[in-house]
Amino acid sequence: MKCPRRKFLLATVGTLAAVSMPAAVSADSLSTSENKKMDILVLTGSPRKRSNSNELAAQFIKGAEEAGHKTFRFDAAHAKVHPCIACNKCGMDGPCVFKDDFEIVREKIIPADMVVFATPMYYFGLSSQLKTVIDRFYAINGQIHRPKKAALLMTYANTAPREAGPIENHYNILLDYLGWTDIGRVIAPGIWPEGAIVDTPYPRQAYELGKSLS
Ligand SMILES: Cc1cc2nc3c(=O)[nH]c(=O)nc-3n(C[C@H](O)[C@H](O)[C@H](O)COP(=O)(O)O)c2cc1C
Repeated sequence: MKCPRRKFLLATVGTLAAVSMPAAVSADSLSTSENKKMDILVLTGSPRKRSNSNELAAQFIKGAEEAGHKTFRFDAAHAKVHPCIACNKCGMDGPCVFKDDFEIVREKIIPADMVVFATPMYYFGLSSQLKTVIDRFYAINGQIHRPKKAALLMTYANTAPREAGPIENHYNILLDYLGWTDIGRVIAPGIWPEGAIVDTPYPRQAYELGKSLS
């Protein structure tokens, strides 16, 4: 009989064990994707039209495509993705009861070599639109515990670096759990109104991050 909760915990323990022995697992398993053109899924979380975090995503995509990689952008705030209702019908590795735009994410994320999370900070956390998509990983949990690269793009209005901590911690532990490897992040403090990011160095940093991908 399936016991999803137990599998979830086991997967976590296994991944953390791998992290404590870095040389063995992660380097080898990632080497197959080195030097190859990657399929990159970019998940954005802002509902704004002239969104700052979306601008980082756009610049990252520009750089990555110039470097020869293939990208697909999924704007969570403009998609129909129902929140996970914890019915466990999927058993953490099966069809979800909801047939909605997460099907698009599902199709792209399983084979993706890299996943990028772009989000505004909302009350010290990810935007709920992006978090809703992440929670729906539950139904494909067994299929995304594979080596992938990842990046974080995040904007927030305040300027204290410690306030970025909760989102960075969330991102770090999510990657540890999934067995994914961070290849970089652009954290942009002091960015408040729509479009405010345009005259800052951060879009360039996002572009360079995308362009630097091997
Ligand atoms: C609901 C909401 C919550 C927010 N919470 C925070 C916060 O906790 N800390 C902060 O510095 N900025 C906060 N902000 C400001 C946004 O993070 C900031 O404007 C960001 O640049 C918006 O990115 P976007 O243009 O991509 O949506 C919040 C904004 C909204 C609308």
